[in-house]
Amino acid sequence: MDIYNEQFVEGLFNSMSKTYGRVNYLSSFGFTERWRRQCVQAIKWDEVIQNGFDLMSGKGETWNLINKACTQDHTLTGVDISLEMIKSANQKLHWYPRLKIGTKQANVLQNDLESESADYIISSFGLKTFSPTQLEQLAKEVSRILKPHGQFSFIEVAEPKLLLLKIPFMFYLKYLIPIIGKLFMGNSMDYKMLGIYCQKFKDCSIFKAFLEREGLEVQQKRYFFGCASGVVGRKKA
Ligand SMILES: C[S@@+](CC[C@H](N)C(=O)[O-])C[C@H]1O[C@@H](n2cnc3c(N)ncnc32)[C@H](O)[C@@H]1O
Repeated sequence: MDIYNEQFVEGLFNSMSKTYGRVNYLSSFGFTERWRRQCVQAIKWDEVIQNGFDLMSGKGETWNLINKACTQDHTLTGVDISLEMIKSANQKLHWYPRLKIGTKQANVLQNDLESESADYIISSFGLKTFSPTQLEQLAKEVSRILKPHGQFSFIEVAEPKLLLLKIPFMFYLKYLIPIIGKLFMGNSMDYKMLGIYCQKFKDCSIFKAFLEREGLEVQQKRYFFGCASGVVGRKKA
């Protein structure tokens, strides 16, 4: 089984779409929500902003946070490969007064998003299901889609370096989250995959290197002692 096959990933999220939000919130004790907020707050919202993209947008989990943080009305497009996630996200299109939201079912690695059209790109928890080659392709797409001076902020769950934290955290991700998925939502296999992906992903270091290779300014971030990892930066003007 190729766990990085895009159809496999699409099927995984189609199957998790009904339970994803609740399992994610319950199993992270609200941490994922806090990390999404930190990811959104890393964007400088006081700059001129007309258009943004939420890549691997899921059910639109960041949109309320973007709506609260932004200082200007603007258009936002959520892009996700999973039709079921997009269908759930579509129910929220009109919930946020500052945002004119649209969605697009697409593979971000091969998309037709307009070049140099984004003032910002946000992305939460969508990196782990990419192999290094796919992360390299994603970095090229980020560079292509951003306007000169455009900003980006990505966040993903990571493997903490500190052994004292790494052992219990990875045990929790790999073994306890699937049990929570099973107990509350009758679905354990799919959630087991999330732990496997996180362990292989490690953190944003590789992605950072690919973004830098594209000429982007990048800063790597650690959230909560390295339990989440991010990259924040912009395209040079
Ligand atoms: C863990 S969810 C994150 C959803 C949301 N951003 C959040 O904060 O919870 C990862 C999402 O990435 C999407 N995804 C994975 N690979 C993708 C790809 N190649 N192109 C577009 N979306 C993809 C999945 O369908 C899924 O909805």
